[in-house]
Amino acid sequence: MSSGESSTAYDVEFRSVTKRFGDLTAVNAVSLQVRKGEFLSLLGPSGCGKTTSLRMIAGFEQPDEGEILIGGREAVGVPPYRRDVNTVFQQYALFPHMSILDNVAYGLKQKRIGRSERYSRAREALELVQLTGRDKHRPSMLSGGQQQRVALARALVNRPRVLLLDEPLGALDLKLRKEMQLELTRIQQQVGITFVYVTHDQGEALSMSDRIAVMSQGIIEQLDTPAEIYDRPVTAFVADFIGEMNFLDGVVRAARGGEFDLDLGNGVILQAHGSPRQGEKARVGIRPARLHISSGSAFGAVNTAKAVVDSLMYLGDEVQVVAMIEGGTAMTVRQQRTGHDGSPEAIRPGDAITIRWEPSAPVLLAGSTNLASDPDDPDDPAQDARAALPQR
Ligand SMILES: Nc1ncnc2c1ncn2[C@@H]1O[C@H](COP(=O)(O)OP(=O)(O)OP(=O)(O)O)[C@@H](O)[C@H]1O
Ligand SMILES: [Mg+2]
Repeated sequence: MSSGESSTAYDVEFRSVTKRFGDLTAVNAVSLQVRKGEFLSLLGPSGCGKTTSLRMIAGFEQPDEGEILIGGREAVGVPPYRRDVNTVFQQYALFPHMSILDNVAYGLKQKRIGRSERYSRAREALELVQLTGRDKHRPSMLSGGQQQRVALARALVNRPRVLLLDEPLGALDLKLRKEMQLELTRIQQQVGITFVYVTHDQGEALSMSDRIAVMSQGIIEQLDTPAEIYDRPVTAFVADFIGEMNFLDGVVRAARGGEFDLDLGNGVILQAHGSPRQGEKARVGIRPARLHISSGSAFGAVNTAKAVVDSLMYLGDEVQVVAMIEGGTAMTVRQQRTGHDGSPEAIRPGDAITIRWEPSAPVLLAGSTNLASDPDDPDDPAQDARAALPQR
């Protein structure tokens, strides 16, 4: 492909970009295409290479290998101030001695734009972030959320092609964070600027993005819409990082026309969609909400497993049941509370139950078997992120 070919379709393009720091490969042969006007998130655990990727787009770091295109033009070697991008950091870095208005107008002054246009554009940007009537105040007189709005206005006033945001809400408390998430998506839709958004918060990425690039150890494991990433994760890492997942390993006994039988080795045969090869080992994932339970042990049939209840937890309208299937694998089930007979509420630890699932529930996972979570870590990042699925 010649470099001119994709020039109109993408605002940012990585072609096999690698960045090393000494022995450490922070970004490993990453290829990425950011579409015009899209909200794309880089999501992944600490140290996976998100900030480094963003800094290469901004021009603060240079790749060791590969090409970076911004608006279809080769950007490697172009200094940050000559790139059509602006960055919003977690630390807002406002000038403390300047008024809000001057903070926002500052970049335009650098570009030698006349005083009246400068101020009218700065006021417009402050209106966009819904921060009016505070023009003359100093940053220290504003709350954290308001300061972040100023930082955003300061970046938007330049009308960049691409806005880069590195954990911009990281310093805010939960409530303000939620508020600013909505604000940011509103602003992005209103101005139509391409956003590349860095976060390690799955819920944030799921609820805000058009597409998410899930990163792990310097590579992109999956790039897709929030719903696809949640419903059809392609690797165990993605499945585990985005919400809770039950993992089941087995051997493929039969495979025909896009369906297969997986023998879990404990008498359980799982039938699902996918095309693994007969005889090979495979791993599937099933979301807790896709499992159903009933009391008593049913006949052995496909897509059912006998289990013994280990624990129950009430989560408002839902109940979470952890049960052990034969062979000692724990499975987590989430079920609505109905109050009827046979409702999960009637179940007690030690009870024999049957777990069932639809053939569409298991997702065949490829590649590495490394997981995002550490089962012994109470602060594990893999919480149930389903509630955050997109409103967009
Ligand atoms: N200037 C640098 N010198 C040496 N190593 C670096 C430098 N910058 C980043 N690294 C290393 O590169 C890897 C990726 O770092 P990066 O800052 O991109 O991670 P991140 O995904 O943004 O993580 P976090 O969520 O913690 O911000 C890390 O192992 C980090 O220690
Ligand atoms: Mg970072």
